[in-house]
Amino acid sequence: MAPQGCAVALLAFFATISLGAQIPLCGWLPTPTTHGPLLEPDAGRWNLSVGPNVDSTSHLVFDTVASLLQHWPNTRYRNGHSIVPGVVPVGTLIYHGRETREIPNEPEWTATDPEHSRVFCRGFGSDCWHLTFVATRPLKVLYFDGSSGAKMEGGPMDTQDYVAWNASHPEWVIDEKRRITSLCDWGKKYQVDGFYRMEGDFEMMLCDFTSGIQPVSFMRLNPEGVPWNRPSPTVSDEIPTWTRRPRPPQPILHEHYKVLEAGSWHNSYPGEGRIKLDLTRLISFYDTDMFPSLVPLRFGLDRLQHHVSGISGQDVQVFHERLDEVLRDFQPNEALALASGSGVDWRTLFQVIVDRYADRLEMLQYILNATDATSENYSQNYTQTVDNAMYRLQLMLTTYALQTARPPPLDTGIDKDNLSWASPIYQYCATTHSSGLYPFKKLFTKSEHLLLNALEGTNREICRVIVRMWAEGIEAGIDPGLPLQPIDDTDGDAFLLPMLKRWRSDIDGLMKWLGWSIWLKCRPACSIEEICYMPTWPWFKKTPWPVPIFEDPYVDGIVGNEPNEAEVEEWKNPLPRCIRRIEPFDWRNP
Ligand SMILES: *[C@@H]1O[C@H](CO)[C@@H](O)[C@H](O)[C@H]1NC(C)=O
Ligand SMILES: *[C@@H]1O[C@H](CO)[C@@H](O)[C@H](O)[C@H]1NC(C)=O
Ligand SMILES: *[C@@H]1O[C@H](CO)[C@@H](O)[C@H](O)[C@H]1NC(C)=O
Ligand SMILES: *[C@@H]1O[C@H](CO)[C@@H](O)[C@H](O)[C@H]1NC(C)=O
Ligand SMILES: *[C@@H]1O[C@H](CO)[C@@H](O)[C@H](O)[C@H]1NC(C)=O
Ligand SMILES: *[C@@H]1O[C@H](CO)[C@@H](O)[C@H](O)[C@H]1NC(C)=O
Repeated sequence: MAPQGCAVALLAFFATISLGAQIPLCGWLPTPTTHGPLLEPDAGRWNLSVGPNVDSTSHLVFDTVASLLQHWPNTRYRNGHSIVPGVVPVGTLIYHGRETREIPNEPEWTATDPEHSRVFCRGFGSDCWHLTFVATRPLKVLYFDGSSGAKMEGGPMDTQDYVAWNASHPEWVIDEKRRITSLCDWGKKYQVDGFYRMEGDFEMMLCDFTSGIQPVSFMRLNPEGVPWNRPSPTVSDEIPTWTRRPRPPQPILHEHYKVLEAGSWHNSYPGEGRIKLDLTRLISFYDTDMFPSLVPLRFGLDRLQHHVSGISGQDVQVFHERLDEVLRDFQPNEALALASGSGVDWRTLFQVIVDRYADRLEMLQYILNATDATSENYSQNYTQTVDNAMYRLQLMLTTYALQTARPPPLDTGIDKDNLSWASPIYQYCATTHSSGLYPFKKLFTKSEHLLLNALEGTNREICRVIVRMWAEGIEAGIDPGLPLQPIDDTDGDAFLLPMLKRWRSDIDGLMKWLGWSIWLKCRPACSIEEICYMPTWPWFKKTPWPVPIFEDPYVDGIVGNEPNEAEVEEWKNPLPRCIRRIEPFDWRNP
């Protein structure tokens, strides 16, 4: 079509929407096609039997990015892999608890939830001075994802260590003074105000208490565990007996529960909102182009064991070069306006994918679980199961089901290995969230190219698996649009059972590959007296690490005692469990 004709046609189209609408560049409006594919057909690329490369990290980049600033997933996968510059906006309140009445004159820890900072009044029963500050200008901060404040060996602090020291120092895990000093010294050349981390709740290491913040209040709070300071009665006989009821000695558990509860407010999307991240400057250690030396280190490891230590010197240098690139011209105001890079709102876009598939894949898995198709004693009504599963698949694919994609006629025989007729649906489903971004590619930063690849790689694998299942079902004549035809047991065994088994392993494989923490739930659900808790440092059943904030005889004994096998398993593989939120509190014994 000639450029002029194109502009005229588009103008006519847009005039019906809004008179003031800009005329898009010619070619932006995709021509409706009768033959599905929007891209060049490529048999290998769109083969429904070919899954992602074993070294692909698109699902890992996708999930870490979709999980940024959320407590739940970053507790499950505590070894962070992302570093993202961000801004704490003007007017944000920041809290700091201490034993003395002084504003810190050196780097110190602050929290965005006062329940968290109050714990740092420390000295149980001593003074509690609680400071509230307000940000007077946008603060420039660097966020480390994972449980980057968890003082545990094995990787949660690796990314900070490589910023500060170019090496991982497990022997300094507890040496937080050294860490904050090194980080703040390093950040001076970029005017970094602080570092955002997560443990039981979020926290900010703040480098200079005289810059960018101003005190709002400096209050002396009643120290936890100390009764309200009521003047003693002169005649003890006059104390009503009900005020002398015995209490279990567990005030520190009350205090700690408050931190866990505040952390849980940020469990799921959008998570902690008091920092705005600039994803166009994100650095991910799952970027295999930037950090190739980590690829062999991850090989064969469960995701829980992925870590950054062991990265090559060459890659550390590349890391520092990229850090320099993303921080050198990072202007807090500019980042808030999403003005850097293309302007695409990546966080929302990633969440769109999670929203579209999280519940629907879980429901499909549930349906396929319900009849245990892997059991040899399978005797359920699989007519109904297959039909239910097909309906779920159709729900997910209804917006991509191209009218032109038709299986070959039945008399040519069912060929479950050649589903190429469904390939245009796969292709459309797989590119539907990303092909619209291609015109902006020239504006992308390096980080945005990584984000686009992660989005496409992840969405594509979801589409491949569900389109293949659906196409197999259609080939088998199971169409929720047709009346249900009960299949007798002989046909079922010969035909439907193998298919159900394949589907079950397909959905399990897909969900395992995606690894979304949203699927980790307390089953059965917790009672109203409990919350669902993802175990985190230091509130495991037992830890072999020193826990400096436990200065209470009640919890003595956690440190030093050898944990048993189940207790070790809990901090190797944290899984949610219910803990009480009314007395008696105890995160160790649900
Ligand atoms: C798709 O890939 C599989 C496995 O590599 C292969 O056997 C099959 O022939 C391919 N199908 C098409 C249509 O190319
Ligand atoms: C870390 O490495 C970078 C780049 O190689 C270098 O500029 C920096 O001085 C190093 N830092 C330390 C603490 O060794
Ligand atoms: C289905 O079964 C698997 C494996 O037994 C289990 O992990 C998963 O939670 C179940 N899913 C649902 C939705 O019940
Ligand atoms: C299958 O059924 C037999 C006989 O009822 C029983 O002994 C066996 O444990 C069952 N197997 C499974 C995997 O349920
Ligand atoms: C299986 O379910 C279908 C649909 O609900 C029903 O028509 C059929 O009678 C059921 N078969 C058995 C054996 O229960
Ligand atoms: C798969 O089926 C299509 C027709 O649907 C046919 O054109 C193609 O040659 C077949 N490919 C293979 C590898 O059998």
